Amino acid sequence: MADKYEIQEILFTEEQIASRVGELADMITGDFEGTAPLMVGILKGAFIFLADLARRVRVPAEFDFMAFSSYGSGTKTSGVVRVLKDLSTDIAGRHLILVEDIVDSGLTLSYLLRDLKARGAASLSICALLNKEVARQVDLPIRYEGFTIPDVFVVGYGLDCAEQYRNLPYIASVKKLAGEPPAPRLFP
Ligand code: IMP
Repeated sequence: MADKYEIQEILFTEEQIASRVGELADMITGDFEGTAPLMVGILKGAFIFLADLARRVRVPAEFDFMAFSSYGSGTKTSGVVRVLKDLSTDIAGRHLILVEDIVDSGLTLSYLLRDLKARGAASLSICALLNKEVARQVDLPIRYEGFTIPDVFVVGYGLDCAEQYRNLPYIASVKKLAGEPPAPRLFP
């Protein structure tokens, strides 16, 4: 039977997120003035973050998306990265901003950085709303970071737990509910 979860604690309210997204957008606007960066949203988790960020960045940005295999229905990384949806843009010579909901082990982005560098991107910057630094397994340069969080599983504002909770306007930790008692064994 699938595990069940419930909201434990709100870590960032809608207002706190909006204010931080505005600050990140200002930094990006300052750094990319005079250029037309390609902002790449990593699906599905970054869809709300990128939509809000996009409307507050004041440079003529373009947008594209990539999707990778997710954790499945649980909350632990498998360490396996599989491309489910690739870019539809030629990135040779382009300045890319990779927009992630959360960096956890860092395996997804480190794979992606290598891949996009090989395709000839002029520059690659990471913008992550959440940084779960203690869970990091590889070194990653995060240029724009919303908030650092401890090693807890979080949902909301695009982030899911088994595809649930993405549309919460805030970010919260979840806790696993005690599982069903095991079925009685009929035979030894
Ligand atoms: P990484 O490759 O381990 O850094 O995994 C990053 C991806 O794992 C994110 O884009 C999320 O889709 C997912 N992820 C990692 N931690 C969480 C979490 O706390 N809540 C929801 N998704 C998470």
